[in-house]
Amino acid sequence: MAEPAKPKRILVTGGSGLVGKAIEKVVADGEGRPEEEWIFLSSKDADLTSATETKALFEKHKPTHVIHLAAMVGGLFRNIKYNLDFWRRNVHINDNVLHSAYECGVQKVVSCLSTCIFPDKTTYPIDETMIHNGPPHSSNFGYSYAKRMIDVQNRGYFEQHGCRFTAVIPTNVFGPHDNFNIEDGHVLPGLIHKVYLAKKNGTPLTVWGTGRPRRQFIYSLVISRAEAWGKEGAATGVPNVGRLLGQVFIYLMKIFIPPPFSWKGRGGAVG
Ligand SMILES: NC(=O)c1ccc[n+]([C@@H]2O[C@H](COP(=O)([O-])OP(=O)(O)OC[C@H]3O[C@@H](n4cnc5c(N)ncnc54)[C@H](OP(=O)(O)O)[C@@H]3O)[C@@H](O)[C@H]2O)c1
Repeated sequence: MAEPAKPKRILVTGGSGLVGKAIEKVVADGEGRPEEEWIFLSSKDADLTSATETKALFEKHKPTHVIHLAAMVGGLFRNIKYNLDFWRRNVHINDNVLHSAYECGVQKVVSCLSTCIFPDKTTYPIDETMIHNGPPHSSNFGYSYAKRMIDVQNRGYFEQHGCRFTAVIPTNVFGPHDNFNIEDGHVLPGLIHKVYLAKKNGTPLTVWGTGRPRRQFIYSLVISRAEAWGKEGAATGVPNVGRLLGQVFIYLMKIFIPPPFSWKGRGGAVG
């Protein structure tokens, strides 16, 4: 007879965000298993920039597994304006979470990196072996370098302590609970909000950029299934979710108007 599965207590930092909420839904809809207890956290449970609060949180919940999503996240303009804050806050959060996980004997940590950490000047297709092959785009160097350092830290915990700390690299995520703030959010929710306002107010639609760059997007509920996979998958190293889930990408070759808005006004690109 097969042995019963060992109980797992899975702590999700950043559980109130876009990706965290999607994982919560996927788990509630059947992806969770009977032996698993899922705990979704927000900054109200602890400020993870504080080592003391982070340690207390881990001692309280005693997780066996961690999906680490908590981060200072923002769109292009917020990144450009606050590079130092993105670096400091994210480095503190990541160091506190990974070290508390190590101290509490967590069996596996899966952190979330981002494709923007790849070198600005690179060849395509990109893969996880290329993360450190050159500087990231200068606009969001604070966020990018902080995320890259998770890979360095994972390697250190593996080599020195044998910890199974790994990471996934998703591209731009969109979905329910997104940040629709036009200044601070990501491109897709920002565009949706702009189209909504143009339609509601009968005003021209102004879109930033030339419209020429190619961008990749992944729906939050799809990435959540990949995250659930990550908690079982590789012991260390960095699975590139972009590559794993290549078939679900949407290539945004030009600005598109979401069908629900049926917008027929004037538009223009500012580049
Ligand atoms: N969104 C994307 O397109 C994208 C793409 C690639 C990778 N990622 C990565 O995926 C992860 C999740 O992103 P997301 O879009 O879901 O982010 P999000 O919606 O901005 O959510 C951020 C989460 O982090 C928590 N948090 C922030 N600062 C914290 C602190 N000091 N202490 C404790 N919790 C804190 C927030 O809690 P509160 O709700 O309480 O503030 C929230 O739950 C991040 O690591 C991000 O870098 C995102």
